Amino acid sequence: MKIAVVGGGSTYTPELIDGFARLAPFASEIVLLDPAADRLAVVGAFARRVLEHHGSAARLRWTADVDDALRGASTVVIQLRVGGQAARISDETFPLVCDCVGQETTGAGGLAKALRTVPVVLDIARRADPGAWIVNFTNPVGIVTRALLDDGHRAAGLCNVAIGFQRRFAAQLGVDPSAVVLDHVGLNHLTWERAAYVDGVDRLPALLTSHLDELADLVQIPRGVLSSLRNVPSYYLRYFYCHDTVVREEKGQPTRGEKVAGIEHELLRMYADPALTTKPDLLGQRGGAFYSEAAVGLIASLHQDDGGIHAVNVRNRGFLPFLSDDAVIEVTCRVGAAGATALPAPPLRPELAGLVGAVSAYEELAVEAALHGGRDRVYRALLAHPLVGQHDAADTLTDELLTANRDHLGWL
Ligand code: G6P
Ligand code: MN
Repeated sequence: MKIAVVGGGSTYTPELIDGFARLAPFASEIVLLDPAADRLAVVGAFARRVLEHHGSAARLRWTADVDDALRGASTVVIQLRVGGQAARISDETFPLVCDCVGQETTGAGGLAKALRTVPVVLDIARRADPGAWIVNFTNPVGIVTRALLDDGHRAAGLCNVAIGFQRRFAAQLGVDPSAVVLDHVGLNHLTWERAAYVDGVDRLPALLTSHLDELADLVQIPRGVLSSLRNVPSYYLRYFYCHDTVVREEKGQPTRGEKVAGIEHELLRMYADPALTTKPDLLGQRGGAFYSEAAVGLIASLHQDDGGIHAVNVRNRGFLPFLSDDAVIEVTCRVGAAGATALPAPPLRPELAGLVGAVSAYEELAVEAALHGGRDRVYRALLAHPLVGQHDAADTLTDELLTANRDHLGWL
């Protein structure tokens, strides 16, 4: 099976390749696609050494030619970042002028990223073989996946938040990760773990007693929130539940993008060493832990029809009855050759449903703005976002966003 990795020059690529090498015997050809030739050569050569180190028979090559990379690929992994870390740093800072959180996927920064990214991802998807599975890691995953599905592609959106919790709960419970089935629900980067089933028994209530402090520390949300909700919100809910605290912190420290740029610089230096054949520990300082395992597991289920259980971004189709069927939600699914289908789960309580409803409405407006452009569409998406909401902030942030992204928005 040919797999194309779009954004293959990413410093994350060795993580993905490590997963293919260890767990994906079905991958016979891997092509890394990236416009950044220098970076791609370093990452590509290292990725080859990783494959060889694990004794993988897969062939790996790299190219800047989109059609060459996509031709014949039955899986296209998309993990690109339009504008690189510089654009991310902009997303993390411009919203602060209105005391709104600066984050690359949440709030006004997330909208900026969506506007830059959706047209580029759609262009790639339209050039892929019809029938190829598009496995989308590109943030903001919910919005980008919704745009891909609206455009008629076979797409599944993926994030590592759920697999991270599955691993953590399994360690706390002393069981194998595969034994833990999560009730993971919400929108991408707006999810909660409501249950953790082992042999059909929900072990989360016990964990919320025995490991409350550890779990609260993990997601950096006060323990009282977890015990009141009786679930574990993802780290990204911190931007909602602790919004003003995060804004104060962000104003006094370098952005995550600046730190990541430093890590990436060092990673590329390490990757260039011909003696390096395994992924360095420094890669563990990035947020993408277990992302290769999530990707390989999903790709295996899509192509081998194994009915595996994965948290996937899929169409709502009535799962959350208060959202439109076309909304994209992130939920625990059973996955086979026909795609991912949400496992049955209880209805959302109002404190979750309210937030999900508001952010999903924003996501719909974000897709519209990304596809059709126009200042007013951007403004309305920000006005609808619960972390912006007020008209004067929406107005100012629209101008800030458009100015900062002038070089990336074709319609400006
Ligand atoms: C988590 C999220 C990803 C995000 C990453 C950021 O893994 O699920 O969607 O891209 O964190 O990590 P970084 O190291 O770039 O801050
Ligand atoms: Mn994610």
